[in-house]
Amino acid sequence: MAELRTPPLALYVHFPWCVRKCPYCDFNSHALQGELPAQPYLARLLRDLEAQAASVGGRQLSSVFCGGGTPSLFPPAAIGRLLEAAHALLGCAPGLEVTLEANPGTIERGVFSEYRAAGVTRVSLGAQSFAAASLAALGRIHSPAETQRAAAELHAAGLANFNLDLMYALPQQDRAGALLDVEQALALAPAHISHYQLTLEPGTLFAAQPPPLPDEDLAAAMLHECAARLATAGFARYEVSGYAQRGAQCRHNLNYWNFGDYLGVGAGAHGKLTHAARGLIERTTQWREPRRYLAAADSELQRRAVARNELPFEFMLNALRLVDGFAADTFITRTGLSWQAVTAPLQRAAARGLLVAAAGRYRPSERGLQFLNDLLLEFLPQNPEKSADSALSMATPEVS
Ligand SMILES: C[S@@+](CC[C@H](N)C(=O)[O-])C[C@H]1O[C@@H](n2cnc3c(N)ncnc32)[C@H](O)[C@@H]1O
Ligand code: SF4
Repeated sequence: MAELRTPPLALYVHFPWCVRKCPYCDFNSHALQGELPAQPYLARLLRDLEAQAASVGGRQLSSVFCGGGTPSLFPPAAIGRLLEAAHALLGCAPGLEVTLEANPGTIERGVFSEYRAAGVTRVSLGAQSFAAASLAALGRIHSPAETQRAAAELHAAGLANFNLDLMYALPQQDRAGALLDVEQALALAPAHISHYQLTLEPGTLFAAQPPPLPDEDLAAAMLHECAARLATAGFARYEVSGYAQRGAQCRHNLNYWNFGDYLGVGAGAHGKLTHAARGLIERTTQWREPRRYLAAADSELQRRAVARNELPFEFMLNALRLVDGFAADTFITRTGLSWQAVTAPLQRAAARGLLVAAAGRYRPSERGLQFLNDLLLEFLPQNPEKSADSALSMATPEVS
C-alpha cells in the first residue's frame, strides 16, 4: 500500500434517544422511556472520546457532527462539554464545522442561541414535510408551525447555516404536494436541503405494515420536479440527496463521500481510520444498544481491518454519491490500491450508461444517480463474504 495517505479526520457523535420512534426509521434510535440519562451518557461519551483520541496520535479534527436519534434532547451545556473535550484532546481546524441534528418538536425558545454559544455552527432540522396530514402519517411529534418557528429561531440565533431534512414520495402524496413541501422549505431560507425518498427499511413498522406509497415512476417525477425547483432557487444538487447554496455544502458529509476518516463515538457509532504507515484501513463499531454501550468498558470498541478486495466497493459506495464524482488520485491515495483495481468495473459501468468519465473525473450519470445500487454492484468483490444487500447497507455512515 505504497500510496496510502492519511486523509482528514472528522468526529461523529451519536445520541440514540428520541421522544417517539418514527415508523419509517431504522436509525439507531430508541423511544425514551422515563428520564433522559443525560449525565451518564455524557460521561460515557467523554470516556469514549478520550480513549479513541489516544489512538489517532494528535490528528486535528476537520468537522464534528452530533447525530441521532435526537441530539437536541441534550442540553446545550452537555454539547458544550463534549466540544471542549474534542478541542482539548484532538485540536480542531480553524472555522470548524459543528453540526447538531434537531427535531423541531424538541426546541425550546432561545435554545439555539445557547447551542451556538456552546460551539455549534450548523443545525440540521428534521422538517420532513409541511403538510399536517403527512406529518401525522409519518408519526412525527411536531406540526408544520413548529418547524417554521424553529427555523425563525435559527435565523434569530445567527445560525443561518442550517439544513432542512425533507422526505418525498410520502403516503398519499402527489406531485403538487411534494413540490409544495420544497416551496415551503425554501420560504424558511435554509442554506442546505436534504431531500430523501421515503424508503421502507427492513425491521421498521412501515416495512411490516406498508402505507400506500407513490409508485417508482411518480417518485421519479417528484424528484425531477423538486430538483429543478431547488436549482432555480440556487440550491445545486451535489450529492444524491443533498442540495446546497454556494459554499453551504456539508463539509462533514463531504468528508464521508471523499472516503475521509472519522471517529465514531456513542452507541452504535461507526468509525473509519487510515493507518498509512501500516498500510491499513480499519472500521470501528460501538455497542448499538444504549444500555449496553453505557455499561461497556473502553476496550470493548470493535476494530476490523477492511480487506483489500472490499476497498473498491467501499470507496465507490461513498464517492459515487457525489454528483461530481471523484478523481483517480483520490481513489489511489485513500485506498492504497492501484488504479487497475477499478478500471474494468469503471469501463463496464460507463458502457451501461451509469458512469461518465470526463476532465479527469469519474461521476455517476443521471441514470447512475437514479439507479445507484446497480452502479455500485459493479464494484462488489468477486468472492464477497457478504451478500449484495448486506454489502450495500454496511460501511455507510449514518448521514443526514
Ligand atoms: C437521524 S434523522 C434526523 C434528525 C431527527 N432525528 C429528526 O428526525 O428530526 C435523519 C433523517 O433521515 C431521514 N430518514 C430517516 N428514515 C428514512 C427513511 N426510511 N426514508 C427516507 N429518509 C429517512 C429523515 O429525513 C431524517 O430527518
Ligand atoms: S426519524 Fe429522527 S426522530 Fe424519528 S425515530 Fe428516526 S431519529 Fe428519531
